[in-house]
Amino acid sequence: MDLHALEKELLTHPLETPEDLRAFRKTFLEKGGKLEAYFAHLRNLPPETRKDIGKKLNTLRDLAQERIAQAQTVLEGNANQTQEATIDPSFPQWVFEPGGRHPLSLVEGKVIQIFQRLGYSLADGPEVEDDWHNFGALNFEPDHPARDMQDTFFVRPEEGILLRTHTSTVQIRVMERNKPPIRILAPGRVYRHETISARAHVYFHQIEGLCVDKDISAAELKATLEYFIHSFFGETVQIRWRASYFPFTEMSAEVDISCLLCQGAGCSVCKHSGWVEVLGCGIVDPNVLAACGIDPEKYTGFAFGLGVERLTQLLYNIPDLRFFGQNDLKFLNAFRGYGYTF
Ligand code: DAH
Repeated sequence: MDLHALEKELLTHPLETPEDLRAFRKTFLEKGGKLEAYFAHLRNLPPETRKDIGKKLNTLRDLAQERIAQAQTVLEGNANQTQEATIDPSFPQWVFEPGGRHPLSLVEGKVIQIFQRLGYSLADGPEVEDDWHNFGALNFEPDHPARDMQDTFFVRPEEGILLRTHTSTVQIRVMERNKPPIRILAPGRVYRHETISARAHVYFHQIEGLCVDKDISAAELKATLEYFIHSFFGETVQIRWRASYFPFTEMSAEVDISCLLCQGAGCSVCKHSGWVEVLGCGIVDPNVLAACGIDPEKYTGFAFGLGVERLTQLLYNIPDLRFFGQNDLKFLNAFRGYGYTF
């Protein structure tokens, strides 16, 4: 009869779950349990030890009952606590408000959707760039005014590390790594050193497009962009092409549309001209192709750059560029529930 072993067993038996309690009772306290067996054994002992051992066995039985009573109190307490926590009727109701997309994100999505129908895929590049990808490879002369500290935010001026001023950088990155045919769209944020006003900001968003293949001409450029403008603004919008200049295209053009606010009659948005500019574009300059290792004798291409803020302002009649960056819920809530397809 090893009473020490029994005591140790009683003290170390787990008592954390209702199953533990049941097992404990069965092992020690119930009929056929260990205590009963020990008590039964008493009568085989010599009378002089029987009394002492009987006392000890009584203590152990008390101990077992005490342990189980304690464990029961703890278990019931836990059950009550969880019940209280789940049904507190005074707790205020949770209000889940669905979010909405930012208007710039809506417009970016819509532009991407239109060009994806024409087989364009997405490309990306870093916002912290070097002089080569932002200017050099794009055929900017070394003393071009856009390189000036006035226009460009330099991160490390002595090394030519800067915040990209346009998404045309992605043209270069894509052409450096891929062979034609290339058809990509590169949306992203760009930075310029401007005084913040209703019409200018230090950062804004562009979507760059690039198509390079054999026999690409201005006809494909014109058809692609007119398809885009009509898909985006509607079939009735008027389109006007103007000759322009960009270092990285030869020929270069800008595209205007008839002002959506005044239908061409003249207002403050179109500066009373009836037209607003929506994009710049052109035939990729052979120097740019060559700088990226693409043979300009074999391949030609066109490129274009869209301003996302400009498109959004026109589509939703937003008078001030600063609304886009202020996170004002009164402004943002107006776009709640809008999807990409309108
Ligand atoms: N990179 C020009 C800008 O930031 C926009 C642009 C114009 C992009 C003509 C082009 C292009 O790809 O062909 O103003």
